[in-house]
Amino acid sequence: MSVHSQAQRVTVPQLMSYKGTRKIAALTAYIAPIARLLDESVDMILVGDSTAMVGYALPDTLSISTQTMAAHAAAVVRATQQACVIVDMPFGSYQQSPAQAFASAASMLSSSGVSGVKMEGGQALAETTRFLVDRGIPVLAHVGLMPQYVNTMGGFKAQGMTDQAARRVLEDARAHAQAGAFGVVLEGISEPLARQITADLAIPTIGIGASPACDGQILVTEDILGLSGDRIPKFARRFADAGQVIRDAARDYAQSVREETFPTLDHCFGVRRPN
Ligand code: KIV
Repeated sequence: MSVHSQAQRVTVPQLMSYKGTRKIAALTAYIAPIARLLDESVDMILVGDSTAMVGYALPDTLSISTQTMAAHAAAVVRATQQACVIVDMPFGSYQQSPAQAFASAASMLSSSGVSGVKMEGGQALAETTRFLVDRGIPVLAHVGLMPQYVNTMGGFKAQGMTDQAARRVLEDARAHAQAGAFGVVLEGISEPLARQITADLAIPTIGIGASPACDGQILVTEDILGLSGDRIPKFARRFADAGQVIRDAARDYAQSVREETFPTLDHCFGVRRPN
């Protein structure tokens, strides 16, 4: 086997080494044009199953398939060279057994080229994390508010708000860390709890609606770009208004077509111009 140098894509061990040294900046991407634009700035791109709601206008994340997630993941990998790309395991593709999870994760890794998978779940899923990691699949755990558990949680609600609930989330995160997860997403939990988990674990925590103390942060890209409608979650910030840019461009285009100022002959093939 030859040893050759590859493009400088951030690796999973590199992400782990950032704990305590520099913050991890992560965003979601589902399609090539967005992934291409994020690549030079972020350490990690998550091909999140949030695309079910953000990209497909579905009410929750439960109905996106492994094939659809793998297709999005492959597009994001092809469009990027630097960021570590991780894909979400969709609902129903991993909860049944470690063997089911391995088959789903292996198929997504080999068909898309991502560097690892993310799984939502508490202590009950730690055995699955161990099973995958032992077989060469890096796992990013996801605890706290887990959108795939919307039906058992009774809605998209912040978690760990009582002492007992906080202890459970801490134990969930610890279980995945002990099972070999390379990091853990902390979503929608109380700030002191996120701070405590970050101090407690040797692996990076990546917060979303968690705490500035987390080792990294992740947001849904459409939320920071102004592409999610008028309301954005409390934990997000709009860093640009791309929505207005797109609305303006569409209006100008439509007006140009109606006024017949676009297209011109410059945009056509085989034009016969007078000598
Ligand atoms: O699906 C997703 O995009 C996520 C992130 C918001 C963490 O899980």
